[in-house]
Amino acid sequence: MLSIFSKLIKAKREGRLFLALKSRILPILLGLKYTFHDPAANNIILISPDYIEPSKDKIELEVVDRIFQSFKKMKKDQKNVSKIYLPSSLWQQQIDHSYSYFSEALKSNNLDKFHFFLTNFGSWKQYHGVESSTLIKNKMRTIIGRRYLKNVVFNNALKNWKWLYNNRKNVSSLTYPRHGNQVGALIDNNFVGVGSFFNEVYGSLLGELIDDVPRPVIAELGAGYGKLAYFTLRSMNSSCYLDFDLPETLCLAAYYLMKSWPYKKVLLYGEEEYSIKSHDKYELIFMPSYEIEKLCNNSVDLFINKNSLGEMTREATANYVRHIASSTRYFFHMNHDVFPNVYNDDSAGLLAHEYPIPKDMFKLIFRYPDMGHIMHHGKVDYYMDIFIYLYERRKRYLGKKV
Ligand SMILES: C[S@@+](CC[C@H](N)C(=O)[O-])C[C@H]1O[C@@H](n2cnc3c(N)ncnc32)[C@H](O)[C@@H]1O
Repeated sequence: MLSIFSKLIKAKREGRLFLALKSRILPILLGLKYTFHDPAANNIILISPDYIEPSKDKIELEVVDRIFQSFKKMKKDQKNVSKIYLPSSLWQQQIDHSYSYFSEALKSNNLDKFHFFLTNFGSWKQYHGVESSTLIKNKMRTIIGRRYLKNVVFNNALKNWKWLYNNRKNVSSLTYPRHGNQVGALIDNNFVGVGSFFNEVYGSLLGELIDDVPRPVIAELGAGYGKLAYFTLRSMNSSCYLDFDLPETLCLAAYYLMKSWPYKKVLLYGEEEYSIKSHDKYELIFMPSYEIEKLCNNSVDLFINKNSLGEMTREATANYVRHIASSTRYFFHMNHDVFPNVYNDDSAGLLAHEYPIPKDMFKLIFRYPDMGHIMHHGKVDYYMDIFIYLYERRKRYLGKKV
């Protein structure tokens, strides 16, 4: 209840209180409608697991220990970085509240506590900004909520996704590994999450964009736990993926992607100095965001940022965009473009069209609303303002030092 009120207060500060109220009421009305008529009754089974005990498997423990050592080093070094690399108030509050298992593990050097959060973040009871675990957990409590989840969140999204491909893809393409004890649903025996539909769509598009590059370097800023990365990389034979993020979320991505692809060569912060040479040596590289300064010009084929630049301070966003622009050929981003986040000091984040992308150097290929957000109730929801952008470096700047 408290979180609903704080979301409404936030919406008021952002000037979209009425749209927020409408967006909150719609799920209740739709849930009510489907309480009397439940077309998804037979093909969708909701999954909202309880917390589980971490595995004692030797390989798992090695992975977790490597990530914990790296986390400790990131947190130590974070104390000395420029404040431009520190989280905005929005993310600092989230870290203090929902990632408290990590901060307590750090304080008491408690690997088990660290491992517990890694094992269960996918069904975590507090909102941590990278998965819809609380949406599922909260709505599971009532029949109206469950009907909304089944029929709107999963069944309508499934119908739209099938339509988008004219039924050419199998439901199995929506599945992703359940490491982290993920919430979601079983559809025709395939595990599907709330984010499956549009991560599958964007992951496929982004993969195709660079499918002529034999071993593409894909970088992402703020990957959460790496879901879009999973959908983008999974069909590539060879690639190097770099994730720059805050230490807490970076650990989730490292765990999720290392567990998903245990055979890939991985570099974690602190294990070896990161440099452009690492791109040839490693397939997955996880670095705290301040390491973005080490990126070389023209060293990345595709840079991704999803739901993240809009959650930072203006200064942080501008700084990251500068590094992205000097390093990449393609830049795909997906962020707020109408209502900026407003932080505790009343400063506002940058909107996507305000990012300082050098126009002489980059051509805008498209700007378009993200269907996944705007149609998430099955109708246009103007409370949502997430737009996708794709930029391509102009030919005369390819391979040129900037
Ligand atoms: C809402 S989550 C989105 C995660 C993922 N991209 C997705 O769409 O599921 C925002 C991401 O931005 C990262 N982030 C927030 N503030 C940041 C900052 N100042 N520097 C680097 N990353 C930041 C968070 O750690 C998180 O990974």
